[in-house]
Amino acid sequence: MQTATELDVLRTAVAEFRGGGESLALVPTMGALHEGHLTLVREARARADRVAVSIFVNPTQFGPNEDLDAYPRQMEEDKRLLEAEGVDLLWAPDVAQMYPEGFSTTISVAGVSEGFCGASRPGHFDGVATVVCKLFNQVRPDVALFGEKDWQQLAVIRRMTRDLDLTAPHADAILGVPTVREADGLAMSSRNRYLSPEHREAAATLPRAMRQAIERIEAGADLRITMRALEQALTNAGFSSVDYADIADAASLARLDHLGKTPARLLVAARIGGTRLIDNMAVGTG
Ligand code: PAF
Repeated sequence: MQTATELDVLRTAVAEFRGGGESLALVPTMGALHEGHLTLVREARARADRVAVSIFVNPTQFGPNEDLDAYPRQMEEDKRLLEAEGVDLLWAPDVAQMYPEGFSTTISVAGVSEGFCGASRPGHFDGVATVVCKLFNQVRPDVALFGEKDWQQLAVIRRMTRDLDLTAPHADAILGVPTVREADGLAMSSRNRYLSPEHREAAATLPRAMRQAIERIEAGADLRITMRALEQALTNAGFSSVDYADIADAASLARLDHLGKTPARLLVAARIGGTRLIDNMAVGTG
């Protein structure tokens, strides 16, 4: 695996693949890799001749009181994991390389960015959209893969790619990969390592309560009452607060009061022991 930390080295490596007529997949990450990321890498391998992974803890998507400094960083371990998966190219720029002196452009995707995590983490999706657009322009992959765990992020990136007529990758080549879960159902996340053993056990209530809520809704229960019961179940299990628990249109993320004919998604963000967990699942025809 070749590692590039400078843009010209990255571009030379990509040009070599391209010169050989090879297709290229990109898996953007912030490192602290787990089985969820490795699943994206395996999927990427199945879809392109060459696989590039980026590792960049993007400061612009963290709010002032968020966990930028505490965010886990384990470059040597990540490299070992990526080598073992047969990744061809690691793009690991530092902050000065990504945001040089004078950097002043922000991409803001209205609508789909605004509710849910966009409401509880102001500016978060501007940071995500901007860095992902840069990563796409730097690597110019044929296909890019993202975990469905960050459902809203995926919707924001698809919208941006369409709106800006990006072609490398084209909007249709942004692939969402189903969430990888621990044995007890908790969605894998680099932030799960913040949880104490006690909170880690209680955290499994999140996917369980979500599945129960979905069963009730699919059996005809009222959406609002079911969401309140879901919030209560989380509070009873030891979650300190619920940022949101809502059903939305799976593509536009418009909040729904009733299930319709288009795919819907249950989205939840809740805090336990100072750690913010998010999850989402299909509802009904979704
Ligand atoms: O999902 C992530 O890890 C990040 O938000 C991403 C897409 C790599 C952008 O920094």
